[in-house]
Amino acid sequence: MSKVWTLGVLGLGEGRSIISAALQSEKWVLGNICDLNEELCKQRCTEFDFHRYTLKFEDLLTDPSIDVIGIYTPDQLHAKHIKQALEAGKHVICTKPLMVSLDQANELLEAQRKAGKSVFVGQSSRYFEPLMMQRKDFDEGLHGELLTVDTHYISDSRWFLKKGWSHQLGFSWLYNFMIHAVDLAVWYMPNIEEVYGVGVVSSNTKEYRLSAPDTLKFILKSKEGKCVNVSGVYAAPTLGTAVQQQISCTLTGTKGISRAGYPKLTYYTNFEPVAKTAKLHTYEEKHGYYFRFEGESHHAGEYQNYIEDFADRLNAGHTPKPDLQEGIRTLAVMEAMEQSMRTGQVVKVADVLNRRSIHV
Ligand SMILES: NC(=O)c1ccc[n+]([C@@H]2O[C@H](COP(=O)([O-])OP(=O)(O)OC[C@H]3O[C@@H](n4cnc5c(N)ncnc54)[C@H](O)[C@@H]3O)[C@@H](O)[C@H]2O)c1
Repeated sequence: MSKVWTLGVLGLGEGRSIISAALQSEKWVLGNICDLNEELCKQRCTEFDFHRYTLKFEDLLTDPSIDVIGIYTPDQLHAKHIKQALEAGKHVICTKPLMVSLDQANELLEAQRKAGKSVFVGQSSRYFEPLMMQRKDFDEGLHGELLTVDTHYISDSRWFLKKGWSHQLGFSWLYNFMIHAVDLAVWYMPNIEEVYGVGVVSSNTKEYRLSAPDTLKFILKSKEGKCVNVSGVYAAPTLGTAVQQQISCTLTGTKGISRAGYPKLTYYTNFEPVAKTAKLHTYEEKHGYYFRFEGESHHAGEYQNYIEDFADRLNAGHTPKPDLQEGIRTLAVMEAMEQSMRTGQVVKVADVLNRRSIHV
């Protein structure tokens, strides 16, 4: 019989989505929830009619009934919290970005090797309906040979700069936001060898006394000589989601093309025999499943999909993906992107990994 997994949740802002997912799953039990902010703990307990919370991470770590810790703390704390969870013998689900640099990559690889537990990176976009359908079509070979991938994540996210930790060392639009687009790109083109890019710090970001590039464009070249475009704009007006998806992934192959994105539940395909206009697939009936709270700011359905997948894979003796190694390879591509923006040079991903003696 399949094991039912017990979850402890750390960080109850975005952690709200995984709480909702665990409570609606037959494969999961919610064991406990934790935040430093007691008011928020109480708010979540009321919202979900749940009757346990703690202000101390230690309580989750030492609770023998908890199998898996879900980490939803500020980006800069992920590496520390993942390590603590592994050392306590827990499996880990960690939201994106896995970390804000590769500084602790080897430490985490070692902690994971010792613990023998899984680390799953919650790259939620992979688990949105249209993007899952696109992956299915790709895996079935409908695109033919993949020629190029175009991804973007565009949002006017100046509101985000009101969060205290967006002003602390380690925050960047690249790691916090653009990682969704980078992850989708390398999901399809995993062998990225070289990176070139340009990033602009707009006056809109400077107004918040921040010097993180918010307007970013990159070309990534794969080992096979294929090209990927990744772009993002985070501190300027947008056309709105009716005109342009916030997140978008276009796959062009020898036999067909597809475009999926977020938050619109739409997916366009043009596969052989190709037509003049792409076919539109809509999944509007799933809106309530994906967006359970106010507006479209949270997307709990993606978390539902990833925790179900996590449990199925562990129960089948497989590794939940994307795992720590894959997450670190993606971060190596991002460090190369960062370096290219800074130096104006083409940067090799292998050089990033070699310089840090990371073997993944
Ligand atoms: N699509 C996605 O996958 C997605 C979307 C939004 C946010 N996120 C990620 O989720 C994480 C949290 O984002 P957020 O918007 O909820 O931020 P937030 O600041 O609203 O919430 C973070 C929470 O963590 C708590 N916290 C901080 N340190 C703690 C500690 N040591 N122990 C216990 N609690 C602690 C804070 O009190 C706060 O309530 C970030 O890493 C963010 O990048 C992912």
